[in-house]
Amino acid sequence: MRIAIVGSTGAVGLEMIKILEAKSFPVTSLKCFSSPRSEGKFLKAFGKNHIVQVLKPDCFKDIDLCFFDASDEVSKEWVPHAIESGAWVVDNSSVFRLSQAVPLIVPEVNGELLDDPELRQTKLISGPNCTTVQLVVPLKIIDQEFGLKKVVVSTYQSVSGAGTLAVSELKNQTEDWVKDRPSRNDALPYVIANNCVPKIGSIGKNGFTSEEMKIMEETKKILGLPNLQITATAARIPIERGHSESVSVECINEVNIDQWKKALRKIGGIRVIDDDSQVQASFSAHGDKVDIGRVRLDPYSKYGLLFWVISDNLRKGAALNAFQITERLLKK
Ligand SMILES: NC(=O)c1ccc[n+]([C@@H]2O[C@H](COP(=O)([O-])OP(=O)(O)OC[C@H]3O[C@@H](n4cnc5c(N)ncnc54)[C@H](OP(=O)(O)O)[C@@H]3O)[C@@H](O)[C@H]2O)c1
Repeated sequence: MRIAIVGSTGAVGLEMIKILEAKSFPVTSLKCFSSPRSEGKFLKAFGKNHIVQVLKPDCFKDIDLCFFDASDEVSKEWVPHAIESGAWVVDNSSVFRLSQAVPLIVPEVNGELLDDPELRQTKLISGPNCTTVQLVVPLKIIDQEFGLKKVVVSTYQSVSGAGTLAVSELKNQTEDWVKDRPSRNDALPYVIANNCVPKIGSIGKNGFTSEEMKIMEETKKILGLPNLQITATAARIPIERGHSESVSVECINEVNIDQWKKALRKIGGIRVIDDDSQVQASFSAHGDKVDIGRVRLDPYSKYGLLFWVISDNLRKGAALNAFQITERLLKK
């Protein structure tokens, strides 16, 4: 496969390269694109140095598959060029996620949509927001076993969810905090060291942020439940990798925890953690699993269930999910 990665020098792009190498993906050529800031740098992959290039109108010629891991603006402008040049695109931006013509995929939840012959014409697949990916995996099984009625989710999101610059910023600010000196912030709109901020993205007219709306709308689309009652609160916390979520659900039928856990354990990619002391973001970071723990019945309703879910936002939340989409397409 002739592969291109747009955003190859970013947090998700670099993870994408690592995954393609680790899984011995059959790459015959790799083109690495980024902004003019990184033009001319070298990225080492598959035993070779690849020069980082900027996007140009004919740059997708001779590419079979292109991963877009840059930004909404870049995807909006360049995804159509890649498709016109004949490439398949797996896009991790939010631009096409809610478009009816574009499948929004988490393979173990709705991977069957990749079998649609229409895709051979459109050639475009979207990957969801990182917080949505890890949420829909356990929700799908709840819906399957007990019927899903209502979801209330609160997220505790790491700074790598905002890209590489936010990670350096957290490190610098933490040093400032330890040395008791003032901090500056550019990548995030607030100082995040020693802090917790319930605002990711912009606040809309209904009071929800753009991040919260993504979680709510994408979850409905992926689960195929347009009437699901779902609300989200998204907070940024000062850790490098791994998003955590506290989830409370109300089901149509009575909940049985053992039945749910048994069904979860049949899904590859999920780890059910029974030992509560092992449910920690740092234990899930850099891993490939969606980790589920702290499972409790609602003491006030036999239809209610509460749990905690953690996953690495750069891997299952973005790059690994995109890779798994490709794997499934290739099998087809
Ligand atoms: N981070 C996550 O957890 C996560 C999860 C799911 C989805 N996503 C999505 O994945 C995408 C990448 O996120 P990220 O966290 O990896 O961001 P990032 O670390 O800030 O990286 C952004 C990448 O895009 C490149 N870029 C910026 N402007 C460009 C341009 N005009 N032309 C070509 N390349 C350009 C950057 O190049 P330079 O290095 O030269 O600046 C860099 O390689 C975003 O759409 C994001 O919403 C991220």
